[in-house]
Amino acid sequence: MQYVYIVVLGLHVMAGVFWAGTTITLARDPDIRVERFFGPQMSSAVVVFITGALLWYFFHGAYFGGMETVLAIGIASAIAAAGVLGAVVGPARRQLAGADTQTEAQLRARMIRGERIAAPLLGLTVLCMAVARLF
Ligand code: HEM
Repeated sequence: MQYVYIVVLGLHVMAGVFWAGTTITLARDPDIRVERFFGPQMSSAVVVFITGALLWYFFHGAYFGGMETVLAIGIASAIAAAGVLGAVVGPARRQLAGADTQTEAQLRARMIRGERIAAPLLGLTVLCMAVARLF
């Protein structure tokens, strides 16, 4: 059981760090091509949610105390971040193909806006995940 926990938690933290890290990086630098990272970002988000759900099932179940409250705030924030990325960045990325220069600039500005909204939400998630054990 200990090995299952190590693997699931390891995958969870690595995928979460990648997701939050790339989102914060993209939010900070408009010159990076967001469309190249969107696929890996959303894939890592899927891994985070699956492993996170497993961790909850294994170690928290139906119990809901202080730690679970803090985890739930972080999870809600991660869901909001995934929603923003999916609703703002995803559609703009799809419209990039064949767009003229002016439209491309508008779409890139929209994608960066999405990353900038998602970044602090994921920052809150990381903080909640890191301190939840102390509650
Ligand atoms: C950016 C996204 C995320 C990052 C970086 C992240 C990171 C972490 C870290 C570092 C821990 C270990 C905390 C500790 O052992 O003290 C943790 C625990 C946990 N995470 Fe996340 N997490 C993220 C998102 C999520 C999401 C979306 C869920 C739920 C679907 C989730 C569910 C959990 C659960 C249930 C635990 C507790 C595991 C335990 O009891 O040992 N996390 N997370």
